[in-house]
Amino acid sequence: MFKVAVIGASGLLGRALVAELAQQTGWQVVATTFSRPVPNALTLDIRDARAVEQFVEREAPDALVIAAAERRPDVCEHDPALARALNVDAVRTLAAAANRRGAWTLSISTDYVFDGAHPPYRDDSAPSPLNAYGRSKLEGERALLDTTDLGCVLRLPLLYGPIVGWAESAVTSLVPAIAASASASADGKPAVMDAWAIRYPTFTPDIAFVIRQMLERHARGEAISGIVQWSGDEPMTKYEIAIRLAEALRVDARLTPQHRPTDATPRPHNCHLASDRLEALGIGRRTPFDTAIRQVLAAFPWRGDKAA
Ligand SMILES: NC(=O)c1ccc[n+]([C@@H]2O[C@H](COP(=O)([O-])OP(=O)(O)OC[C@H]3O[C@@H](n4cnc5c(N)ncnc54)[C@H](OP(=O)(O)O)[C@@H]3O)[C@@H](O)[C@H]2O)c1
Repeated sequence: MFKVAVIGASGLLGRALVAELAQQTGWQVVATTFSRPVPNALTLDIRDARAVEQFVEREAPDALVIAAAERRPDVCEHDPALARALNVDAVRTLAAAANRRGAWTLSISTDYVFDGAHPPYRDDSAPSPLNAYGRSKLEGERALLDTTDLGCVLRLPLLYGPIVGWAESAVTSLVPAIAASASASADGKPAVMDAWAIRYPTFTPDIAFVIRQMLERHARGEAISGIVQWSGDEPMTKYEIAIRLAEALRVDARLTPQHRPTDATPRPHNCHLASDRLEALGIGRRTPFDTAIRQVLAAFPWRGDKAA
């Protein structure tokens, strides 16, 4: 029996990963969450080093995937201690505990380790994060790779996939404003959308498939180590994402492009991640954006909710 621990199983990526791994015969999945209950998952605060060590000792997984993090750039900017605790210290604690048991650790990182000025970025391109989130994730990468030889970092760009709330992904978080711009009650106010930053929205079920393929390699003794990257291949600004969302929602949205960055937290312009290391191993799957976003919206339809 091949046993995989998924840390952060209640999150956007964690849920997709657990759903993918549950289909694998002969594998056992042990999932952990923090504040949100998930059926059959254990509660684990990854800031509690003793609890992490006891969890890894007790469960003795063959592999551990860290999908738990503080991933909101504004929160990281205002609470760098929380960002460090989750994105750096907890990664080190988990990786050290896994290493002691001979387990392989896969830690999820971000394209925000780059400054976005010179895409595309390879796994060995020089990182240069612009904000506290990117800095903490870069430190987390280094903590993992310094702690264990049985470790791998998977960098990802903007994620979207099955949601439990619109705000869960920066893609679906645009839906309430798009819908409001199309409604008669919007007083003629169009929705202003960023048309400056180029993103590569990547579908969480595709990433879960990629991670399963990576775990399969580990299970047959060919573990991948170091840094790898995976990205969708359709570049889009949020303005362009909003146009595609409006088409999928079949609403007549009034959208205005914003050609300069207005974010309080600095964000990179274009961090396109080259996925060639995984592609060379025959790993990967890319669902077209228009297909994937329709699946997401079909499972979580817009009903005029006010909640963003
Ligand atoms: N979202 C993106 O667009 C994006 C882009 C690039 C890279 N990434 C990276 O991808 C990974 C997954 O991101 P995501 O979007 O799936 O994140 P998410 O939806 O915000 O989920 C975060 C997860 O972390 C857990 N968590 C939070 N505090 C914890 C604690 N103290 N102890 C244990 N678990 C804790 C949460 O548990 P509860 O919900 O149960 O509290 C949740 O399961 C992260 O490493 C992120 O940096 C994300």
